[in-house]
Parts: sequence; structure tokens; C-alpha cells
Amino acid sequence: MEFELPLELQESLLALVKDIPKAKLIQAGVELTSNYRTHHSLFSKEDKIAYLITRMPATYAVIFHLLQKIQTPIHTLLDLGAGPGTSLWAANPLFPSLFATLIEKDPDMISLGKRLSPPLSHKWKQGDITTVEIAPHDLILLSYVIGELTISDLSPLIEKAWKNASQYLVIIEPGTPHGFERIRFVREKLTSLDCHILAPCPHANACPMAKNDWCHFSRRIPRTSLHRIVKSGTLGHEDEKFSYLIASKAPTEAHSRILRHPQRNPGHVTFSLCTPNGLQTQTLSRKNKEYKKAKKLEWGDELPYFKSSKELT
Ligand SMILES: C[S@@+](CC[C@H](N)C(=O)[O-])C[C@H]1O[C@@H](n2cnc3c(N)ncnc32)[C@H](O)[C@@H]1O
Repeated sequence: MEFELPLELQESLLALVKDIPKAKLIQAGVELTSNYRTHHSLFSKEDKIAYLITRMPATYAVIFHLLQKIQTPIHTLLDLGAGPGTSLWAANPLFPSLFATLIEKDPDMISLGKRLSPPLSHKWKQGDITTVEIAPHDLILLSYVIGELTISDLSPLIEKAWKNASQYLVIIEPGTPHGFERIRFVREKLTSLDCHILAPCPHANACPMAKNDWCHFSRRIPRTSLHRIVKSGTLGHEDEKFSYLIASKAPTEAHSRILRHPQRNPGHVTFSLCTPNGLQTQTLSRKNKEYKKAKKLEWGDELPYFKSSKELT
């Protein structure tokens, strides 16, 4: 399956848990969800390992999915708030000659990240991303970290990161109202700095999403047996909801973004879209030359931009 963790990473995670009693790991898994959501802190070694087992598959899948949208070669990556270095695993199959720099404040996370023996050339730096000096890199990543910062720290960080992103700045947050509020805030900041948006937005005008709604997407992640144990879950998969922004220094092409599951009917399919002209619902019938391709599209995909309703039928 596309989003399954690489085998070497699954094996490294298994090696991490081999000396930890199962009951301790399950307990850490139970406490993890509430502790991390409330305090954004992981205290014990078991907490941190439980975090890796339950969250790495999802953050790996989302980072991999979003890096696939980058179609120009990139040679350097800076991961701010890198956790256990999930981005290394996600970038490796796409940009195998990349050099990555990972900045993380928690020394235990760094040593766990090192024990996972990631595949890509890289260096770790322990530091606080709100104060550390940021050097120019082709791509700068802030994955599931800006929700842990204060708004007053976030604004100067985004400015610094954007200035030093030679090609792209990628920001990912949980696909929740709170996660999206952070993305909306960052988007406003970046558009005031003249950025282009590669995805998900089809334009850099004001975000048309209603105040009480949130723009988010989803990836289905298979759960390993270890993951099921720590999460005390029985389902073989989970759906990871995320919000994101890929800001680009180079101009991007106009498209529309599918914002919900498409409604498929015999002979036509209806899409909820964000278009260069704002939010729209568009129906494509089988008479349209794009219909064959369009009926296979999913929530989160791009649809060609149709300027007028004549182009739709
Ligand atoms: C939710 S984890 C995400 C890890 C990784 N980016 C990923 O997507 O898998 C957030 C990480 O950011 C780190 N972090 C939070 N605030 C930070 C700061 N001010 N400076 C450096 N790291 C920070 C935390 O220690 C934690 O490892």
C-alpha cells in the first residue's frame, strides 16, 4: 500500500520497543492522546516511543503525499520541529540525493530519531526554532509544530522561514478547526509577503472558507499490529485529517481544488471546489471531455479550472 511505513522503519520501531513491557506501552498509548493534546509534552521514554509508533505512520503519510506535489528538483531541506525525523523517511524515495537539516528542541526525540537509522544524508541540531538562526534551504518544512507555538512567536518565524525558503515553504497541521485557524493565519502572513501558493489554494486572494468551516483533507493509513496494540484499536486503518499550505517562490498554475468527497451519479459527478473565483459547486456530465478523468478524482485532488459554465457540459 502506498502509505505504508517503509519496512526498515517498521523494523527500527520494533527494535525500540523490544525491551519495554507491553502493558507499559499500552498505558503510555492511553495517556499519550490526552497528554500531548493538552500539554504538548511527552515526559517518559515510553511516552515518546508510544508517540513514535502511533503518530509516525500518519505524519509520514501526509508529508510523503505533500512532497509528491513538488515537481521541481530540490537539494536541501530544513525541517523545523523535526520530532524523530519523519521527513527524512518521506523525502527519501522522492529526493534520494537531498541533504536535510533537522532542528528539534527535545534531545530524547533527536536520539530516538538517530536510532531509527534514517536513510537520507542529514544533520541534527538541537535548538528552539523560534530563536535559532535559519539558513537558506530549497524547501523549509514546519510539520505538525506551529500549533505548539504562541501566535507572537509564529509571525516572525514564518517571516524568517519564508525569506530563507529558496523554493518552497511547506506547513502542515492537524485537520481540525484549530489546526486550520493556524494555517489561515500563516496564509494571511505569507500572502502579505507576496507568495504564490502551489497547494491547496488555487489563488493567493483572501481565503473564502467561512469562519466556522475549515479546509482539510484526509489520508487513509494502514495500522501495523504494533500500532493497534499501542492504540488499543482493532481497525486495520485510520484516517488522518490534515490542513496544509505549500507556498512557492515561483508562480503556480491555476486549478480548482476538490474540498469534499465528490458526489458520483450515473452520467455526472458533482464537486465542491475552491476555484480561482472562490467556493463553487460544479457538475461535470459525461459530455465533457474531462469527464472520464474527472470521475476518478477524489477529495483533495486538483480539477482543471473551468472559467465558464459552458466549459462544464
Ligand atoms: C507533533 S511533533 C511533530 C514532529 C515532526 N515534525 C512530524 O511531523 O512528525 C512536534 C515536534 O516539534 C518540537 N517542537 C515544538 N516546539 C519547538 C520549538 N520551539 N523548537 C524546536 N522544536 C520544537 C517538539 O519537541 C516535537 O518533537
